[in-house]
Amino acid sequence: MPLEGLSKFYVVKITRMVVYDLVAIGNPVYDIIETPFVKSIGRVLSGCSFNVAFTAKRLGMKEVALVGSIGGDFEERFLKTLRRIGLHFIKAGDADETAGFRLRYLSYGDRELEVLGFGGEVSMKRVPQEVFNTSAVVVGPVLGEVGIEVPSTFRKRGSVVFLDPQGYLRRVRGRVVEYHSNPEALEACRESYLVKPNELEARLLSGFDEPLKAAVSIHQKAGAVTALTLAERGSVIVSGKRAILVPAYPTHVVDPTGAGDVYLGALAYYIRNGLSLEDAASYASAIASLKVEGIAAYFNLDLEKVVRRARWIRSRVKVKRLK
Ligand SMILES: Nc1ncnc2c1ncn2[C@@H]1O[C@H](COP(=O)(O)OP(=O)(O)OP(=O)(O)O)[C@@H](O)[C@H]1O
Ligand SMILES: [Mg+2]
Repeated sequence: MPLEGLSKFYVVKITRMVVYDLVAIGNPVYDIIETPFVKSIGRVLSGCSFNVAFTAKRLGMKEVALVGSIGGDFEERFLKTLRRIGLHFIKAGDADETAGFRLRYLSYGDRELEVLGFGGEVSMKRVPQEVFNTSAVVVGPVLGEVGIEVPSTFRKRGSVVFLDPQGYLRRVRGRVVEYHSNPEALEACRESYLVKPNELEARLLSGFDEPLKAAVSIHQKAGAVTALTLAERGSVIVSGKRAILVPAYPTHVVDPTGAGDVYLGALAYYIRNGLSLEDAASYASAIASLKVEGIAAYFNLDLEKVVRRARWIRSRVKVKRLK
């Protein structure tokens, strides 16, 4: 009985359980970007989940995971990039094609998105339970691929939820993306600690054109801290009875694609590091101003410039008491 002699030994299998600092959920995209100043060479990696995760990682977060679905057309290239920058990838779906858009900027702030690929649904049933071992999560679908219940699932498991609602407010007509006011998007906002719409998204969520009114209305309806971004006009953050008015840092724009994602990734990073909303938003605005100087997520994240710009912004932040 050769095994008998071994009975006093135990074989202990050690599997390392990862505890994440941040999980970003939503499909990565490979985009073609055409602004008045620059055209991408082929398709470039972007998307809220990627831009958020990449920003948090570059700022120093250790264990950052991206949860999404990727098609065979870009999978190898994508995995290579993620390995190089040290992000975890948790595949949550199969797709024939990777998601992506052709973004044409008609004028600054007015862009048209043509769908190049749809990507697959992000199924949380497909992902290992360890994905819930995260202190923070950013939910950032590009085209409704993340279930509306996902923010609630993470909140109930104790994660702080940050939400970019853009993908819940988009639908496709022909191959062009159009925006619509989807009441379910507000449900996702209600489950979140912080929600970051841009001006158009805030109008759809609130029914108000005026940014401060829109932010106050979303905050009242959803209870979430509302960070409404206004491109070169900065951002307005409403929390409790305070509205924090944060300027943008004046700079030359090359490509604004992903500025909101980078802002959100940085905001989440600094809030998780214990900064006040005023300080975190000043850093987020500074980092997003560096982003618009480069194409897609590739910009020079020069930390000295970040500190200098954040100080400039912070000294101009205004706090308004709300009635
Ligand atoms: N032209 C600019 N100059 C300086 N900062 C900018 C400029 N455009 C954007 N930003 C910064 O980035 C933040 C987010 O920008 P924006 O409102 O365009 O996000 P968005 O529409 O969600 O972008 P995307 O969906 O492409 O990620 C702004 O609040 C601002 O701080
Ligand atoms: Mg956006």
